[in-house]
Amino acid sequence: MKTVSVCFICLGNICRSPTAEGVMRHFVEEAQLTDRILIDSAGTGDWHIDEAPDERAQHAARQRGYELGMLRGRQLKSADFERFDLLVAMDERNITALRQVCPPAQRDKIHLLMEFVPETDDRWHGAREVVDPYFGGKEGFEQVLDQCEAACRGLIAELRARLLA
Ligand code: 4NP
Repeated sequence: MKTVSVCFICLGNICRSPTAEGVMRHFVEEAQLTDRILIDSAGTGDWHIDEAPDERAQHAARQRGYELGMLRGRQLKSADFERFDLLVAMDERNITALRQVCPPAQRDKIHLLMEFVPETDDRWHGAREVVDPYFGGKEGFEQVLDQCEAACRGLIAELRARLLA
């Protein structure tokens, strides 16, 4: 059976990429595609290895029905470029960090999350980055969730198309 795999990438792997992972897992479960779409996340930095997501990210996600408590921080490793079909980054800084270590043959796998926002989404279509909420207030975590929900709707459509291709 054909599968597709995606790894969400941010800096610390405790705020944005676990949020994207939690939202995407929920959407994939709703679509009954858990055995076809494989999801993970990682950070480019090494500060939060084995830590649970930031409490503020967990709380904001839980309010919308997404559970992040079982996730643990990990750092990107070179095998991830082989293992995943898509590496989906939150911001341009993540993209730069990914490109620095990505084997040339795998470069097409690297994308910004916001590239997947559907054109019909008036609020988020055209946005490029998911801004780091770590040093800000709780409204930043709400915005991360809004952006992850918008982009993951488009991402699941893209992955469905790949499964059928
Ligand atoms: P994230 O947020 O990249 O969305 O997980 C951050 C978390 C921690 C740090 C930076 C960003 N930090 O500097 O520790």
